[in-house]
Amino acid sequence: MAITTSAAELLTLQTVQLVSVAVVVVGILRYAFNVLRREGKPLPTPLAIPWAGPLWAIEGATIYKTFKKWSDKFGSLYEVTLFGQNLIIISDPVVAQEILAQRAKTVSDRPALALVAGSKDSGKYLPFLGNNDHLTRQRRFGVLINNYTAKANYHGRMLPESLRFAVQLMDKVEEPFVLVDQVCGRLSCRMAFGTPAPRAAIARSAHNFMQNLSPGGRVANVLTFLRHLPTALNTEKQNEHMRVDIEDRVWYGSYKKAKAAYEAGTLPPSYAKYYLEQREKTGLSENEALHGIAMMATVSILTLIAPLQRWFVIMAQYPQWQRAVSQEIDEQLGGRPVDVNDGPKLPILRATILESIRYASPVPTGIPHRLEEDMVYNGYHLAKNSNVLACDWVEQRLLATIDCAKTNRARE
Ligand code: HEM
Repeated sequence: MAITTSAAELLTLQTVQLVSVAVVVVGILRYAFNVLRREGKPLPTPLAIPWAGPLWAIEGATIYKTFKKWSDKFGSLYEVTLFGQNLIIISDPVVAQEILAQRAKTVSDRPALALVAGSKDSGKYLPFLGNNDHLTRQRRFGVLINNYTAKANYHGRMLPESLRFAVQLMDKVEEPFVLVDQVCGRLSCRMAFGTPAPRAAIARSAHNFMQNLSPGGRVANVLTFLRHLPTALNTEKQNEHMRVDIEDRVWYGSYKKAKAAYEAGTLPPSYAKYYLEQREKTGLSENEALHGIAMMATVSILTLIAPLQRWFVIMAQYPQWQRAVSQEIDEQLGGRPVDVNDGPKLPILRATILESIRYASPVPTGIPHRLEEDMVYNGYHLAKNSNVLACDWVEQRLLATIDCAKTNRARE
């Protein structure tokens, strides 16, 4: 069969080619213009495949270890592009302070979580809120309830809970991690809702939340374009819908019970009681408050468990430090159990706690911030819309070294 090309077809082909070339040229010119217009030099960055990034170097769920290797090579501030998203990694607490605290105005936004719809602006998840009114209100509420709880010496609940934990531990010495989960959950729920009752449900919901937001937990958190797949084709999205349903039931249910106890005059001191007594002062609707209360319980369960579990491992690995802690407590407290305010008298115990946070930071990569404007820092260009991570795991290593040098404390 003879193939014939009409003049009209040729013209269309030429037009398509011309438009394609024009689009590419304009793209290159715009890129070059943006680069030339930039103030400051580019940040150091590892060798990478354009857009995709240095995929061969990434150590899966322990990406913070990769960040450490890069910080050894590039220093305290560098950038890396992963699947089209530019990340700026901070590896030094001083730099973190100067960028994230001193220039907070431009860097207080957060990136949207890929799977968790409305993470920035639904007002539910304080540590992940964008730079908006919800953040201002929830942050203020968070400060109010935490200050109130600390001033009230945690309502005297720390000591009875730790004694209960010690007794259980003697009974089930082979299950320290399960018991650690339980005591952290009980304390967090007591502070939030005045009762340990919702511990298991809140802990499960916290764990599911963690799974669905972390890069190691779900593929869509790394290959973020997958979030655009319709729910029917995306099992991770289906799972997220179920998670939110359960979370809503657990959060609303726990608050409803606390409110009923308040109305019956039996609610112990807690964030919930504080809100119900001081609604006017907080300026929060009931819905906002219950999100603030439940999120605080969620965050504290997750962040308390990891260091405390690691503390047990360290004590088992280093019996000489276990003996030193024990001796310090005996000498300083004369045999009575430790309470929250004993910290200043127990420097060795505090050092071992710091060491456990260093080994097992509950938030090893930090929580990403979003740069809302271009920034020049120390002569470097930090591009708008980059995600900025203060890598806690790397910083903890540096802090521990400084702390060690300052106090001349012997450590292995
Ligand atoms: C060793 C334990 C903990 C570590 C390492 C840790 C770490 C962090 C980090 C890295 C952030 C992000 C800061 C940023 O914006 O760059 C953060 C935020 C937050 N943490 Fe913790 N945290 C710990 C314990 C807790 C506990 C026990 C609670 C609750 C009682 C808590 C509540 C929060 C809240 C509410 C935020 C969001 C603050 C805001 O954006 O205003 N954290 N934490």
